[in-house]
Amino acid sequence: MRTQVLIIGGGPSGLLLAQLLDRKGIDTIVLERKTRSYVLGRIRAGILEQGMVKLMRKAGVSERMDRESYVHDGTVIACGDEQFRIDFTKHTGTPVVVYGQTELTCDLYDAREAADGEIIYEVEHVEINDAKSDRPYVTFQKDGIAQRIDCDYVAGCDGFHGVSRQTIPLTVRKEYEKVYPFGWLGILSETPPVHHELIYSSSERGFALCSMRNDNLSRYYIQCSLSDRPDDWSDQLFWDELKRRIPSDYADKLVTGPSIEKSIAPLRSFVTEPMRWGRLFLCGDAAHIVPPTGAKGLNTAASDIHYLYHGLVQAIHDNNNEGIDRYSERALARVWKAERFSWWMTSLLHRFPEQNAFDLKMQSAELAFLQSNNEAQSALAQNYVGLPY
Ligand code: FAD
Ligand code: DHB
Repeated sequence: MRTQVLIIGGGPSGLLLAQLLDRKGIDTIVLERKTRSYVLGRIRAGILEQGMVKLMRKAGVSERMDRESYVHDGTVIACGDEQFRIDFTKHTGTPVVVYGQTELTCDLYDAREAADGEIIYEVEHVEINDAKSDRPYVTFQKDGIAQRIDCDYVAGCDGFHGVSRQTIPLTVRKEYEKVYPFGWLGILSETPPVHHELIYSSSERGFALCSMRNDNLSRYYIQCSLSDRPDDWSDQLFWDELKRRIPSDYADKLVTGPSIEKSIAPLRSFVTEPMRWGRLFLCGDAAHIVPPTGAKGLNTAASDIHYLYHGLVQAIHDNNNEGIDRYSERALARVWKAERFSWWMTSLLHRFPEQNAFDLKMQSAELAFLQSNNEAQSALAQNYVGLPY
């Protein structure tokens, strides 16, 4: 088999890249380790920056998103019973969009199928070979049978646990990491959201986030211990704890119900440099992870795809390598700013086990400054709606 761009990973990064390239007449094959239904069963991000929305439109897959998504002009930041609102549109002229990663990924799968785009599911033992040469190839097993695909370029879109990053030798690769001493316990429930905008809440008992997918589907998160398991948290325990962590006017009107999904995600900041090695390019979670507090994970994957897509089109159609040669530098410049914002939001709103009385005062002072300062609110809004690319 042969293709122009071999894409490893059928998550949002890989599918979006395949769809965009297809519209420029560039052929791709996507290799995915799991099944389509497994990928769609993972409940993840919910907030899209305008950059991601524009890429979905450019890829011709925005019809359902444009119809069913919700535009949010601001968000609530709460601390105990205090609360204030950050007005995104006032500060930046730009709102964010609420549309689940699951829905977006489903739309991308449908579009790839409609275009007869090749996706090979349930691949095993994927190996990238000769990435430093002009003729890379990828080997893998499908149903126990060894296969080989020759290609011009390899896009490593295989997430944090994929093989692409590991292919880059340790002598070349530098990794930066911060692991946080807590996780997020998230639930999805078929109940109306407690408020029409998101609520990011700092409390003495830890962080909580009230989010949503639609008028009758809510997504809530609470900071939890790393040793907790989802089964440790009955729905009742979860709702009781959430109510204690959000302002009482919201707690009083919170509609509770059975959870339809419950999972725990650890929090991590991680970046690998460089994001290119020969003809291998890393995108999305394969290259970087942010803690979810700033809703930047999926959106940072989107900016990588933007830079790589333009670079590949330039290289393949115009025989000009400028875009792929500068891919790593351009993508990383934006990645590090998203890392900073996510780290800052996480530090501001969570309780850390080692925090002393002074640290707590610093957090309160920073929140008080944010509440009262227009420029600080503007800085948060600019980062939250997404820095330009
Ligand atoms: P992924 O979505 O991880 O996709 C990678 C794909 O590659 C997967 O389908 C995987 O099966 C496949 N793969 C892996 N290895 C191989 C291989 N060897 N061969 C072939 N295929 C392979 N972000 C937010 O903004 N908000 C959130 O609430 C949020 N929650 C999250 C919860 C969890 C548990 C996780 C892990 C992430 C969360 N994120 C969140 C981050 C966000 O979902 C990711 O940034 C986004 O999924 C990145 O997309 P991706 O396509 O780069 O990687
Ligand atoms: C959601 C997740 C986030 O990490 C975030 O910051 C906002 C919303 C969500 O899943 O809805």
